Amino acid sequence: MSEKVKIGVLTISDRASRGEYEDRGGPAVIEELKAIILTPWEPVYLIVPDEKKEVEEALKRLCDREICPLVITTGGTGPAPRDITPDATAAVCDRILEGFGELMRAVSLKKVPTAILSRQTAGTRGNSLIINLPGKPSAIKECLLAVFPAIPDCIDLIGGPYIETNPEIVKSTHVHKEHNN
Ligand code: MTE
Repeated sequence: MSEKVKIGVLTISDRASRGEYEDRGGPAVIEELKAIILTPWEPVYLIVPDEKKEVEEALKRLCDREICPLVITTGGTGPAPRDITPDATAAVCDRILEGFGELMRAVSLKKVPTAILSRQTAGTRGNSLIINLPGKPSAIKECLLAVFPAIPDCIDLIGGPYIETNPEIVKSTHVHKEHNN
């Protein structure tokens, strides 16, 4: 049996990391991914506080040691002083993919005017794609559905595995080339 694709799910929250409340963001990301992805996969789920160094270390671990071709973060994208997720993401990425943040904010602005407050971004680190989502479960769903059509293509282009999506939920722009070689 071939190995499952690992997908990093990183919750960034002071209170959830201290156990003061149950994390709702990470499980919401996992639920959405379960509905979207048909390729066998498994989550590598971590929770860290809003500390830039800790977020950077967790992202590096998910990309470099766990070899996750996709890492989704949730939380810490706003303008408050302790919201440092996009900054930690930029610090560990080789390149930033501006289109992801632009599209997620554009889609979210149709739902809530406060979407303008999210600094969410995305970028690549080696063969991994890192994407920031806000912490709210409704925001997670809206943002993930908006950008997912481009994710299999992006992962293919950076040298990652083929990720098949459920076409009833996400119509991927990716053409699987395996049979064309
Ligand atoms: N995007 C969507 N789709 N839905 C939302 O409710 N909330 C906004 C914004 N983006 C929201 C959204 C708010 S109120 C904030 S402060 C920012 O995301 C940052 O959220 P975060 O700090 O949990 O990342």
